[in-house]
Amino acid sequence: MRKKLIAANWKMYKTPEQAREFVAAFLPQVWEHTRDEMVLCPPFVTLPAVASALDGSRVQLGGQDMFWEKEGAFTGAISAHMLRAAGCSHVIIGHSERRQYFGETDDTVNRKLRAALHGGLIPIVCVGEVIAEREAGLTEDVLRRQCSIAFREISSGQAIPIVVAYEPVWAIGTGKTATPELAGEAHRVIRAEAAEAFGEGVAGKIRILYGGSVKPDNVKSLMAHPDIDGALVGGASLDPKSFAAIVKY
Ligand code: PGA
Repeated sequence: MRKKLIAANWKMYKTPEQAREFVAAFLPQVWEHTRDEMVLCPPFVTLPAVASALDGSRVQLGGQDMFWEKEGAFTGAISAHMLRAAGCSHVIIGHSERRQYFGETDDTVNRKLRAALHGGLIPIVCVGEVIAEREAGLTEDVLRRQCSIAFREISSGQAIPIVVAYEPVWAIGTGKTATPELAGEAHRVIRAEAAEAFGEGVAGKIRILYGGSVKPDNVKSLMAHPDIDGALVGGASLDPKSFAAIVKY
């Protein structure tokens, strides 16, 4: 049985002050919630405020990106080691916005994924097709390529903590959610790719989240699908009431 994970991707939203207000309103609503793992991924500068506000709660903390080196002359970059020191247990890697606006490639995703595992972080690796790829019938090929390159040079023993987020790019921030069946099909492709890389046993343990316009009113049907192990939530995670409603679907 895979425990579901519900993660908030705040993207480039919320100052430390705004994040403290969020946590003050959010925590009382989920204090008793033990069914799922919960993770907040705020912007880097907001991590310390959220870390101290979450102290003593079950809600975990994640970064939205990282670089693969431990330290050095890499202006603007943050390492796994630094995220850990700031209180993070998780890190999002290869989000489609990083791929689209910041030159992230399948190869850099692989390097970051290996560095995250090496640094003791739980990586949430994002994959997903753009609309033109779906319409051309290429979804399966795209997912297989993104996963097989992401999983390179990772042993089965190292792979267990990996979380994959299937995020069809056409569903992100658009209000167009994938149906549970469509997401389920993609999740089966991703798990098959994980089985090829790490074996059936490990692939069965890897959690595969769905992301893309998850809202309080569609989360229940998505989470009811046996192949969907949680959600990565953008827009609807910015409001404490709406994110609490998603967590407690
Ligand atoms: P969305 O974003 O929920 O606003 O569609 C999801 C994501 O980008 O992770």
